[in-house]
Amino acid sequence: MKGIILAGGTGTRLLPLTAVLIKQLLPVYDRPMIFYPLNTLIQAGIRDILIIVPPEYSGSYLNLLGSMFQKHGVNLTFIVQKRPGGLPEAFILGEDFLDGGSSALILGDNIFEDDFTDAIGSFVSGGRVFAKEVPDPQRYGVVEFDGETGKVISIEEKPQEPKSNFAIPGIYLYDGSAPEIAKNVKPSARGELEIVDMHRAYLDRGELDVRTITGAYFDAGTHDSLLEASVYVRDRDFRSRFHPIVNEAIDEFNIEFKRLVSLKK
Ligand code: DAU
Repeated sequence: MKGIILAGGTGTRLLPLTAVLIKQLLPVYDRPMIFYPLNTLIQAGIRDILIIVPPEYSGSYLNLLGSMFQKHGVNLTFIVQKRPGGLPEAFILGEDFLDGGSSALILGDNIFEDDFTDAIGSFVSGGRVFAKEVPDPQRYGVVEFDGETGKVISIEEKPQEPKSNFAIPGIYLYDGSAPEIAKNVKPSARGELEIVDMHRAYLDRGELDVRTITGAYFDAGTHDSLLEASVYVRDRDFRSRFHPIVNEAIDEFNIEFKRLVSLKK
């Protein structure tokens, strides 16, 4: 399975921070945010990852990540999204990269404590999304289950009156039909392609699996959640729980950076 990270968007909820730096490069405690979703994919065994970036920050992403994982067997590919048209665009832009195979899409501002190795390793076909109980479901895609059978009854994007407290967080596993499904999604009232329409397409085919997750989870797209995420990762020592590849690559990057700085003096 290949991975995709969506690392663009407007980040308006984090203004004025995002007027000068893109959201996914803002710090979550001591590391740029993008390392968290990157770690989630690498930890789950994914080694081929597409990072979708906006034109203004493509250079910044390349400077930071361009050759960081070369020695570690992680292949990063970058592609530019000219303007944010919605999450399903990831599969349209990534169609050639995916080459008919299945993928895990993760949002660049989503921070997970859970390890997805089993969920990704056991994935065969259809779609698999996750459900996480949250106090503020209005901020998310929300899934409603039948109390008796556990079957999915409805999926809604940011409902004003949520039918459950189960958010669908930003990691989605889809099979090779994702690009075709994405091309058939119609823009919503806010003019974007909505990821919940892809979940619903798989649900309508009877091919959507929803698994509950219980670890800490942050959509770090607001000032409060960004702060909460930073405090959480510091207090729970997330650093030591990163995959060794990621920790080593960051350490090597820092050493090389310091070496180059000393040469300039
Ligand atoms: O965080 C989980 C939620 O993410 C889901 O529960 C919702 O169903 C889903 O729609 C999404 O909602 P958000 O309002 O949080 O999405 P946002 O616009 O913040 O975009 C998510 C990430 O994807 C963010 O890092 C920016 C990036 N992005 C977004 C768009 C629309 C792109 O790179 N390109 C885009 O076109």
